[in-house]
Amino acid sequence: MYTTSHVNLPQDAREELIDMLNTLLANAIDMHWQVKQAHWNIRGTHFYSRHLLFDEVAKHARKHADSYAERAGALGGYAQGTIRLATNNSQLPEYDLQAVDGEAHIRALVERVGRYAASLRDGIDKSEEANDPVTADILTQTLGETEEDLWFLESHLNGDVRAGVTMPPKGGNRRGRQAEDISQATT
Ligand SMILES: [Fe+2]
Repeated sequence: MYTTSHVNLPQDAREELIDMLNTLLANAIDMHWQVKQAHWNIRGTHFYSRHLLFDEVAKHARKHADSYAERAGALGGYAQGTIRLATNNSQLPEYDLQAVDGEAHIRALVERVGRYAASLRDGIDKSEEANDPVTADILTQTLGETEEDLWFLESHLNGDVRAGVTMPPKGGNRRGRQAEDISQATT
């Protein structure tokens, strides 16, 4: 559902951006609660530091969700931000419900945060193609924060990152195809 907007972009470009922002909103909401699942259920060595780290990552996702929803509004759209809508629209896999020890949670999160980051990089490409530097800038900010979180998580694995992660290409832009190639080469 769309409404009018005086943002100086063609209607079809705005609608594509709004749909993309709603997909990222679903990803962020899904990721927020998945990281909370890890925050609540992690056990074992380094419990306290990992418990706190996961809460920081979850807070970031929650903040990102707000940015995507409000940018969709600014472009003349409506946010699709309920839990049920997010469940339907998210591109992330369900959390690893068998994870108990710290390493299993870290691996599960590296995979999901990596996929979320890949969806943001894809979103930046789409924003640039739609000539919208404002959305590209919002996504660049959230991608930077997400990739830093990814580094914090990956650093617990001593360089053994078997959870190769990228989004399947949608519509296939150049960077998306490269990402898929990297994924296939490392799995
Ligand atoms: Fe907590």
